[in-house]
Amino acid sequence: MESNKTFTMIKPDAVANGHIGAILDKIIANGFKIIALKYTALNAEKAGEFYSVHKGRPFYNALVSFMSSGPIVAAILEKENAIEDYRKLIGATDPTKAEPGTIRNLFAKSIDANAVHGSDSDENAAIEGNFFFSAFERF
Ligand code: CMP
Repeated sequence: MESNKTFTMIKPDAVANGHIGAILDKIIANGFKIIALKYTALNAEKAGEFYSVHKGRPFYNALVSFMSSGPIVAAILEKENAIEDYRKLIGATDPTKAEPGTIRNLFAKSIDANAVHGSDSDENAAIEGNFFFSAFERF
């Protein structure tokens, strides 16, 4: 299992609010290398599949509906200690609790519309990256 990669999505709220460029700038400025990148959209079925680990939780239906409401940017990022460092960079899931200067503090509006997703483990980073990218789409 690789420990130097994480997966991220720029969520529909951040895309709609014009923050793709600022978020990618911040990712690069913090030492992450983008090794795969895609502008795409999830339909409800795909969003449900991506977040199937949360199936049954009270926020699942709202999450699926929100994540299929508009285009997203998917990316695989590489850096030593990628999972932990990226979670630090994005801040807490609930943006009201995110540290100043973090991506969610700067760009997120609510716990649902929280600007970005970041993998929580090496195992999930691999699963999530494989969900969006083939071997031919990684550089
Ligand atoms: P994300 O990191 O993409 O993983 C699951 C998402 O569910 C999370 O960000 C939030 O946007 C959303 N969510 C909504 N309510 C909650 C909650 N109570 N706990 C965790 N995640 C939540």
